[in-house]
Amino acid sequence: MELSDVMRTCRAIRRYTDEPVSDELLMDCLRLAVCAPSGSNQQKWRFCILRSAKIHQLLGKTYKQGWADYAAQMKLERPSADDASRSARFIRSMFELVENFDTVPAYVMFCALRTPFMEELYTGASIYPAMQNFILAAREKGLGTVITTWYRLCEEELKELVGVPEGWVVAALLPVGYPKGKFGPIKRRPAEEATCIDHWDATLSNPE
Ligand SMILES: Cc1cc2nc3c(=O)[nH]c(=O)nc-3n(C[C@H](O)[C@H](O)[C@H](O)COP(=O)(O)O)c2cc1C
Repeated sequence: MELSDVMRTCRAIRRYTDEPVSDELLMDCLRLAVCAPSGSNQQKWRFCILRSAKIHQLLGKTYKQGWADYAAQMKLERPSADDASRSARFIRSMFELVENFDTVPAYVMFCALRTPFMEELYTGASIYPAMQNFILAAREKGLGTVITTWYRLCEEELKELVGVPEGWVVAALLPVGYPKGKFGPIKRRPAEEATCIDHWDATLSNPE
Protein backbone atom coordinates (compact mmCIF):
# COMPACT_ATOMS: atom_id res chain seq x y z
CA MET A 1 0.00 0.00 0.00
CA GLU A 2 1.14 3.53 -0.72
CA LEU A 3 1.56 5.69 2.38
CA SER A 4 -1.07 8.09 1.03
CA ASP A 5 -3.58 5.20 0.76
CA VAL A 6 -2.79 4.15 4.32
CA MET A 7 -3.44 7.71 5.51
CA ARG A 8 -6.67 8.11 3.56
CA THR A 9 -8.16 4.88 4.90
CA CYS A 10 -6.90 4.99 8.46
CA ARG A 11 -10.25 5.26 10.17
CA ALA A 12 -10.74 4.97 13.91
CA ILE A 13 -11.56 1.27 14.41
CA ARG A 14 -13.63 0.43 17.50
CA ARG A 15 -14.89 -3.07 16.74
CA TYR A 16 -12.51 -6.03 16.71
CA THR A 17 -12.66 -9.72 15.94
CA ASP A 18 -11.49 -12.26 18.54
CA GLU A 19 -8.38 -13.03 16.50
CA PRO A 20 -5.32 -12.61 18.72
CA VAL A 21 -2.71 -9.99 17.91
CA SER A 22 0.83 -11.19 18.49
CA ASP A 23 3.52 -9.27 20.34
CA GLU A 24 5.68 -9.66 17.25
CA LEU A 25 3.15 -7.84 15.08
CA LEU A 26 2.76 -5.09 17.66
CA MET A 27 6.55 -4.83 17.79
CA ASP A 28 6.65 -4.41 14.00
CA CYS A 29 4.35 -1.40 14.45
CA LEU A 30 6.32 -0.08 17.43
CA ARG A 31 9.60 -0.32 15.49
CA LEU A 32 8.01 2.12 13.05
CA ALA A 33 6.56 4.20 15.88
CA VAL A 34 10.08 4.95 17.12
CA CYS A 35 11.02 6.45 13.73
CA ALA A 36 9.07 9.50 14.92
CA PRO A 37 10.76 12.66 16.13
CA SER A 38 10.85 13.73 19.77
CA GLY A 39 12.22 16.86 21.43
CA SER A 40 16.05 16.82 21.17
CA ASN A 41 15.65 13.23 19.98
CA GLN A 42 15.36 12.24 23.65
CA GLN A 43 12.94 9.36 22.95
CA LYS A 44 11.66 9.41 26.51
CA TRP A 45 8.80 7.13 25.70
CA ARG A 46 7.54 3.78 26.92
CA PHE A 47 5.04 1.63 25.07
CA CYS A 48 3.25 -0.78 27.37
CA ILE A 49 1.57 -3.74 25.71
CA LEU A 50 -1.20 -4.66 28.12
CA ARG A 51 -2.65 -8.15 28.16
CA SER A 52 -3.30 -9.13 31.76
CA ALA A 53 -6.80 -10.19 32.81
CA LYS A 54 -6.67 -7.75 35.72
CA ILE A 55 -6.00 -4.81 33.40
CA HIS A 56 -8.69 -5.93 30.96
CA GLN A 57 -11.16 -6.08 33.85
CA LEU A 58 -10.22 -2.67 35.19
CA LEU A 59 -10.38 -1.00 31.78
CA GLY A 60 -13.59 -2.79 30.79
CA LYS A 61 -15.37 -1.61 33.94
CA THR A 62 -13.98 1.93 33.68
CA TYR A 63 -14.79 2.46 30.01
CA LYS A 64 -18.35 1.16 30.46
CA GLN A 65 -18.92 3.56 33.34
CA GLY A 66 -17.22 6.48 31.56
CA TRP A 67 -19.35 6.03 28.48
CA ALA A 68 -22.56 5.50 30.48
CA ASP A 69 -22.01 8.80 32.31
CA TYR A 70 -21.09 10.63 29.12
CA ALA A 71 -24.00 9.19 27.14
CA ALA A 72 -26.43 10.14 29.93
CA GLN A 73 -25.03 13.66 30.06
CA MET A 74 -25.21 14.06 26.29
CA LYS A 75 -28.58 12.25 26.11
CA LEU A 76 -27.14 9.73 23.65
CA GLU A 77 -29.01 6.54 22.95
CA ARG A 78 -27.94 3.57 20.92
CA PRO A 79 -29.19 4.21 17.37
CA SER A 80 -31.36 1.51 15.83
CA ALA A 81 -29.54 -1.10 13.77
CA ASP A 82 -31.19 0.04 10.53
CA ASP A 83 -29.98 3.63 10.89
CA ALA A 84 -27.03 3.74 8.47
CA SER A 85 -26.27 7.46 8.82
CA ARG A 86 -22.68 8.42 9.59
CA SER A 87 -23.53 9.77 13.05
CA ALA A 88 -25.55 6.62 13.94
CA ARG A 89 -22.65 4.41 12.88
CA PHE A 90 -20.27 6.54 14.92
CA ILE A 91 -22.41 6.38 18.09
CA ARG A 92 -23.02 2.65 17.64
CA SER A 93 -19.29 2.08 17.34
CA MET A 94 -18.76 3.96 20.62
CA PHE A 95 -21.33 1.71 22.34
CA GLU A 96 -19.68 -1.39 20.90
CA LEU A 97 -16.20 -0.29 21.89
CA VAL A 98 -17.09 0.10 25.56
CA GLU A 99 -19.33 -2.97 25.69
CA ASN A 100 -16.42 -5.11 24.48
CA PHE A 101 -13.52 -3.20 25.94
CA ASP A 102 -12.65 -5.98 28.38
CA THR A 103 -12.17 -8.47 25.52
CA VAL A 104 -10.07 -6.35 23.17
CA PRO A 105 -7.12 -8.51 21.99
CA ALA A 106 -4.49 -6.07 23.32
CA TYR A 107 -3.97 -2.50 24.40
CA VAL A 108 -0.92 -0.37 23.84
CA MET A 109 -0.46 2.41 26.37
CA PHE A 110 1.75 5.29 25.24
CA CYS A 111 3.71 6.99 28.02
CA ALA A 112 6.08 9.94 27.99
CA LEU A 113 8.47 11.37 30.53
CA ARG A 114 7.26 14.80 31.51
CA THR A 115 9.94 17.27 30.39
CA PRO A 116 10.90 19.61 33.25
CA PHE A 117 10.68 23.34 32.53
CA MET A 118 8.73 22.77 29.32
CA GLU A 119 5.03 23.17 28.81
CA GLU A 120 2.82 20.09 28.57
CA LEU A 121 2.45 20.58 24.84
CA TYR A 122 6.16 19.84 24.45
CA THR A 123 5.78 16.51 26.21
CA GLY A 124 2.74 15.73 24.05
CA ALA A 125 4.61 16.73 20.92
CA SER A 126 7.29 14.20 21.84
CA ILE A 127 4.90 11.24 22.02
CA TYR A 128 2.00 11.88 19.62
CA PRO A 129 4.11 11.62 16.44
CA ALA A 130 5.18 8.12 17.58
CA MET A 131 1.57 7.26 18.31
CA GLN A 132 0.45 8.35 14.85
CA ASN A 133 3.28 6.34 13.28
CA PHE A 134 2.02 3.34 15.24
CA ILE A 135 -1.56 3.91 14.06
CA LEU A 136 -0.46 4.14 10.42
CA ALA A 137 1.80 1.09 10.70
CA ALA A 138 -1.05 -0.88 12.29
CA ARG A 139 -3.39 0.15 9.46
CA GLU A 140 -0.85 -0.95 6.88
CA LYS A 141 -0.66 -4.38 8.55
CA GLY A 142 -4.45 -4.72 8.69
CA LEU A 143 -4.81 -3.90 12.39
CA GLY A 144 -7.37 -1.44 13.67
CA THR A 145 -7.02 0.92 16.60
CA VAL A 146 -8.28 4.18 18.04
CA ILE A 147 -6.91 6.76 20.46
CA THR A 148 -8.82 6.58 23.76
CA THR A 149 -8.62 8.65 26.91
CA TRP A 150 -11.15 7.26 29.41
CA TYR A 151 -8.36 5.39 31.19
CA ARG A 152 -8.03 8.72 32.98
CA LEU A 153 -10.93 7.68 35.18
CA CYS A 154 -8.76 4.88 36.61
CA GLU A 155 -5.36 6.34 35.85
CA GLU A 156 -3.82 5.97 39.29
CA GLU A 157 -4.91 2.33 39.63
CA LEU A 158 -3.72 1.57 36.11
CA LYS A 159 -0.36 3.24 36.68
CA GLU A 160 0.06 1.26 39.87
CA LEU A 161 -0.78 -2.05 38.17
CA VAL A 162 1.71 -1.34 35.38
CA GLY A 163 4.31 0.19 37.70
CA VAL A 164 4.53 3.53 35.88
CA PRO A 165 7.23 5.55 37.67
CA GLU A 166 6.83 9.08 39.03
CA GLY A 167 7.19 11.78 36.38
CA TRP A 168 5.79 9.71 33.53
CA VAL A 169 2.46 10.61 31.93
CA VAL A 170 0.07 8.39 30.06
CA ALA A 171 -0.62 10.05 26.72
CA ALA A 172 -3.29 7.63 25.45
CA LEU A 173 -4.43 4.04 25.51
CA LEU A 174 -4.97 2.30 22.20
CA PRO A 175 -7.03 -0.87 21.92
CA VAL A 176 -5.73 -2.96 19.02
CA GLY A 177 -7.33 -5.76 17.06
CA TYR A 178 -8.35 -6.97 13.63
CA PRO A 179 -11.31 -4.88 12.48
CA LYS A 180 -14.79 -6.38 12.39
CA GLY A 181 -15.85 -3.83 9.84
CA LYS A 182 -13.91 -2.39 6.95
CA PHE A 183 -11.26 0.25 6.74
CA GLY A 184 -12.72 2.96 4.61
CA PRO A 185 -12.12 6.44 3.36
CA ILE A 186 -11.91 8.97 6.16
CA LYS A 187 -14.03 12.10 5.99
CA ARG A 188 -12.40 15.45 6.68
CA ARG A 189 -12.96 19.06 5.79
CA PRO A 190 -10.74 20.17 2.89
CA ALA A 191 -7.22 21.25 3.84
CA GLU A 192 -7.84 24.43 1.84
CA GLU A 193 -10.36 25.55 4.50
CA ALA A 194 -7.72 25.30 7.19
CA THR A 195 -4.76 26.72 5.28
CA CYS A 196 -3.95 30.38 4.81
CA ILE A 197 -1.16 32.22 3.10
CA ASP A 198 0.40 35.16 4.90
CA HIS A 199 -2.79 36.23 6.69
CA TRP A 200 -5.08 34.17 8.91
CA ASP A 201 -8.24 35.25 7.06
CA ALA A 202 -6.89 34.46 3.59
CA THR A 203 -7.63 30.76 3.50
CA LEU A 204 -7.05 28.91 0.28
CA SER A 205 -10.76 28.16 0.07
CA ASN A 206 -11.67 31.79 0.72
CA PRO A 207 -8.84 34.07 -0.45
CA GLU A 208 -9.32 37.75 0.31
C1 LIG B 1 -7.01 13.43 21.56
C2 LIG B 1 -7.97 12.38 21.07
C3 LIG B 1 -8.78 11.72 22.00
C4 LIG B 1 -9.68 10.73 21.57
N1 LIG B 1 -10.42 10.06 22.50
C5 LIG B 1 -11.25 9.06 22.09
C6 LIG B 1 -11.93 8.26 23.06
O1 LIG B 1 -11.78 8.43 24.27
N2 LIG B 1 -12.76 7.29 22.60
C7 LIG B 1 -12.91 7.05 21.26
O2 LIG B 1 -13.66 6.13 20.90
N3 LIG B 1 -12.27 7.78 20.32
C8 LIG B 1 -11.44 8.78 20.71
N4 LIG B 1 -10.71 9.49 19.78
C9 LIG B 1 -10.85 9.14 18.34
C10 LIG B 1 -11.59 10.21 17.56
O3 LIG B 1 -12.95 10.19 17.90
C11 LIG B 1 -11.40 9.88 16.07
O4 LIG B 1 -10.04 9.92 15.79
C12 LIG B 1 -12.12 10.88 15.19
O5 LIG B 1 -13.51 10.81 15.42
C13 LIG B 1 -11.85 10.62 13.72
O6 LIG B 1 -12.32 9.34 13.40
P1 LIG B 1 -12.15 8.78 11.91
O7 LIG B 1 -10.69 8.76 11.62
O8 LIG B 1 -12.76 7.40 11.93
O9 LIG B 1 -12.88 9.71 11.00
C14 LIG B 1 -9.80 10.43 20.19
C15 LIG B 1 -8.97 11.09 19.27
C16 LIG B 1 -8.05 12.04 19.71
C17 LIG B 1 -7.13 12.69 18.69
